[in-house]
Amino acid sequence: MPDDSLLNRRLGVLGRNAPLFYDRPVHIVRGNGVWVEDVDGRRYLDAYNNVPHVGHCHPHVVGAIARQAAELNLHTRYLHESVVTYAERLTAMFAEPLDTAMFTCSGTEANELALRMARFGTGNTGIIVSDFSYHGNSATLASLTTAFDVVEDFPSFARKVTVPDPRHDGQDVDESALAERYAAQVSEAVQSLQADGMGVAAILIDAFFANEGLPDPVPGYVAQAVDIVRAAGGLFICDEVQAGFGRTGDATWGHELSGVVPDIVTLGKPMGNGHPLAGVIASNDLVSEFQVASTYFNTFGGNPVSAAAGQAVLDVLERESLQDNARTVGAYMRRGLEKLQSTYPVVGGVRGRGLFFGIELVDESSSDPAPALTKQLVNMMRDRGVLLSRIGRYDNVLKMRPPMVFSTENADLLLSTLDDSLGAL
Ligand SMILES: Cc1ncc(COP(=O)(O)O)c(C=O)c1O
Repeated sequence: MPDDSLLNRRLGVLGRNAPLFYDRPVHIVRGNGVWVEDVDGRRYLDAYNNVPHVGHCHPHVVGAIARQAAELNLHTRYLHESVVTYAERLTAMFAEPLDTAMFTCSGTEANELALRMARFGTGNTGIIVSDFSYHGNSATLASLTTAFDVVEDFPSFARKVTVPDPRHDGQDVDESALAERYAAQVSEAVQSLQADGMGVAAILIDAFFANEGLPDPVPGYVAQAVDIVRAAGGLFICDEVQAGFGRTGDATWGHELSGVVPDIVTLGKPMGNGHPLAGVIASNDLVSEFQVASTYFNTFGGNPVSAAAGQAVLDVLERESLQDNARTVGAYMRRGLEKLQSTYPVVGGVRGRGLFFGIELVDESSSDPAPALTKQLVNMMRDRGVLLSRIGRYDNVLKMRPPMVFSTENADLLLSTLDDSLGAL
């Protein structure tokens, strides 16, 4: 690699350990729909990126951003109709009492704000998170991170609980016993926070347990966990940064699948199709009372250009029936992945729902998680022109979460490339 290569320039100026995907990083210069193209003109099927939710560079979103940017963009302390219209449209997508929006620029800001609101609303300070989670990179959220290394210590105001993963922990018991077994951890966490005088302000969980590796949902677990927290005066903050906007196919929001309406929902990644738009949805009372007690404004969050991007995303989701597409193509993908599981013993399980799915890679003889093989497979797929990544507690779940315009033809290509790579593994 020549000294003046982009990679070396990057190492020099962005830090030697700034994360970069793949052993041979991809230098992408343009995108369209589910495709991205590198600097040499090679096309890659994007089976990974959920931020370009309605497709890379969707012309309707690009046009809306460009038109609004050419007309007006300024901070949010002026009246602007499209910001209000967007908030009305967005909040109408939630059940009562989730009728009010606060906009931010990132999922981190949304979760940070949600924690502040939960503490204010309950008068408690304790927070419960899963023991393999990530919700953002602010000081508080970094300290609550249990899925990755962080310099902050896990705080004394927080407790971790394990989310049930039937494939690993549930083989000896039925689902309701499993839900109870893990809900008991939530009870213990609440009692411990109370014993330390903090009480519980909130349980903060990802609606789809994405970073946990997409464990199959255990019916009743979320409802039981939330009941326990609410009985102790705490709130349910549901992080929909990954699961929201129809990704699961069966529902617009991940929390709908668990049948529990959260007290606070946080949104991000797909919301602006790449434009930095995120937010918090809660009841008007909670938001309004917080706004009196604590001055909050966000210079960029929910500005007119962001609102234009957000509205355009909703337009495309509706016009192109992308939630339906996620359901049908997701089911098709799942069948294909199950077929691969029956062919390759290294595929230990199929996970996910809608256009968020994964396969779990295991050692053929011991059935233990196989993170090194998973890493190898991710790189082999990249070399064969398909972008994906890996996640989970054991780093052995292939993470596939393509733009919502992913078609059955794209699924066929993904499946045949996986077949080819698994065969070569
Ligand atoms: C579940 C979840 N919540 C929150 C975040 C933080 O979002 P952002 O990177 O926009 O701050 C992430 C980012 O990966 C996430 O996966």
